[in-house]
Amino acid sequence: MDRIRPVLWGFFVLFLLYSPAKAEDQSVIDALVVFMDRLVPGSMQTTPGWGWNTSSDPCTSKWVGITCDKDNKTIKKIILEKFNLSGTLDFESVCKVNNLLVLSVSFNNITGNLQQEVSSCKRLTHLYLSENRFLGSLPDSITDLPNVKRIVISNNGFTGQLPDFSRLTSLLSFFAQNNQFTGPVPPFNYRQLDGFSVANNDLSGPIPDDTGRFDANSFAGNLQLCGKELAVQCPVKKSNKKSKLRDFLIYSGYVVLVCIVLVLIAILACKKTKKHHRDVKTRSSVKNGSDSGRSSGSKNSRARSEFSTTSVESGGVSSSMVVLSSPVVNGLKFEDLLRAPAELIGRGKHGSLYKVRPDNGVPVVVKRIKDWKISRDEFKKRLQKIVEIKHPNVLPVVAYYSSKQEKLLVYEFQQNGSLFRLLHGSQTGQIFGWGSRLGLASSIAGALAFMHHELQADLIPHGNLKSSNILFKDNMEPCLSEYGLMSIDHHDQDLTNDRIPTTATFKADVHAFGVVLLELLTGKPVQDNGSGLAKWVSSVVQEEWTIEVFDRALIVEGASEERMVVLLQVALKCINTSTPPAMAEVAAMISSLNEEEERSMTSSDP
Ligand SMILES: *[C@@H]1O[C@H](CO)[C@@H](O)[C@H](O)[C@H]1NC(C)=O
Ligand SMILES: *[C@@H]1O[C@H](CO)[C@@H](O)[C@H](O)[C@H]1NC(C)=O
Ligand SMILES: *[C@@H]1O[C@H](CO)[C@@H](O)[C@H](O)[C@H]1NC(C)=O
Ligand SMILES: *[C@@H]1O[C@H](CO)[C@@H](O)[C@H](O)[C@H]1NC(C)=O
Repeated sequence: MDRIRPVLWGFFVLFLLYSPAKAEDQSVIDALVVFMDRLVPGSMQTTPGWGWNTSSDPCTSKWVGITCDKDNKTIKKIILEKFNLSGTLDFESVCKVNNLLVLSVSFNNITGNLQQEVSSCKRLTHLYLSENRFLGSLPDSITDLPNVKRIVISNNGFTGQLPDFSRLTSLLSFFAQNNQFTGPVPPFNYRQLDGFSVANNDLSGPIPDDTGRFDANSFAGNLQLCGKELAVQCPVKKSNKKSKLRDFLIYSGYVVLVCIVLVLIAILACKKTKKHHRDVKTRSSVKNGSDSGRSSGSKNSRARSEFSTTSVESGGVSSSMVVLSSPVVNGLKFEDLLRAPAELIGRGKHGSLYKVRPDNGVPVVVKRIKDWKISRDEFKKRLQKIVEIKHPNVLPVVAYYSSKQEKLLVYEFQQNGSLFRLLHGSQTGQIFGWGSRLGLASSIAGALAFMHHELQADLIPHGNLKSSNILFKDNMEPCLSEYGLMSIDHHDQDLTNDRIPTTATFKADVHAFGVVLLELLTGKPVQDNGSGLAKWVSSVVQEEWTIEVFDRALIVEGASEERMVVLLQVALKCINTSTPPAMAEVAAMISSLNEEEERSMTSSDP
């Protein structure tokens, strides 16, 4: 063949046009052409600008499916999805590309075995082979890819046993559903995986994942698989320590709440006693009557009247319980709370959260905070300020109470859960697309900016912003919960230890909001106050490998990469700089981004 002349000519032109840029070696280009020939591109070859010939350069001639490093013009990604490619995947050739990080040939008609040579792609981080007709078993060498993060081989005809993936310490997700793998589920580093499925294969034996991170959906459709995630229990099983522990925690939750509630009722009774001496007797007899009728449904109704009598006699302290009038909990009485069963639904550094459902009433959430060094008057003043300010995206407090040891806050229960649960909970098939995420970011930023503005003079920031404090109302509108509860109080007498300058806590809110943005963008949960996630994102962004940080669901959805990058920049501004922008500024940036997004949805232009 007379390939030489066009090659020389091509190089000459390239040299003239892009003299500083160093393109891939000709041997790599030749190998890529062989790789594509074996993939049988069919009619694609006639597509204008297709490239993939030995006379052009993959980067400078922009071969279809190839993405190159901006600076040194080496190939980073080969993405050939939905090209009706048939034939076989020649790893030996494609791995000649030294710097190849991403290889995707999903949604084609490729067949044959996965070659042993897959391990020659030493730098590969992403391998997507789903929706093809691959056959045979996975070569063991696939576990020799030291940098691989994502492997997706679902919807193929793979058979045989899965190799031991626990060697792949950088792996973040593995999807192999809808194949015909047999044998046991091998070990993985489940703790670090954020996605995993081996559903619909012919795997057998126990599920090795003891972290409980993945539920039945990840394992379903394997008739001989057993484990606590599935309906099929494994034959020999020791007593389940974990669920016992959980039962114990829930039970102790009940006990604790019973105690709190008893104290509260005592105090309430005491207050009422002072005001209406005569009423007390009638009411307590009514209560006793209703108790006997209800004793089966309620765990904390017994012994209450006894306790309250004692307290009344001892004189007690005056009640600090404030029940605010609210249309949602209209007519809610504190006694109703006490009679209702309570369930521990969360436990944090500073307090616990209980779900309480008063009879015939709206369920509420009781937040109990211990050891908050704030005087009762300060607390009351603070709550009055917070309660005065209303915003549709801030969950209002419906009642609060304060004693020296603890503070209680009552909110209406939001059955649609939190942002944390939506992002990181076990998949319920809910789609949380880019438009919704951006809308949420915009609403929450607006609400936070509003609260900051209104409470600036009182120095009350949110103080504990995180994705589990962003809840969804019935209409799925997001709202901020627990505003103003946790920040360290500046009236605390002790100046030396954990006192934080109060102005810093507004900054801390902005920082925390930045972390929430990162969670929205990456789909990853946050540990250690987000510093790990923030560090990871900044490092990836510095490597100009921005797309890697985004939640794959967003990429798959085809979300605007440009706007995702802008939101990421906003997040990094909130997190990285020592002088973060004010919340109002952040809200304005996100709001205009959101408007842009909405405009793009209504216009037909992509
Ligand atoms: C090779 O691909 C380049 C880029 O698509 C194209 O311009 C050129 O015409 C092709 N050359 C041949 C010989 O097909
Ligand atoms: C090109 O740049 C990438 C990323 O900066 C680097 O990893 C790679 O080693 C470079 N390749 C060459 C040949 O310089
Ligand atoms: C695979 O090939 C079959 C028949 O040749 C065709 O109907 C189908 O559309 C192809 N699939 C893809 C994803 O191109
Ligand atoms: C896909 O390729 C096969 C064989 O190369 C061909 O028969 C079929 O028509 C192609 N289908 C499409 C949708 O291009």
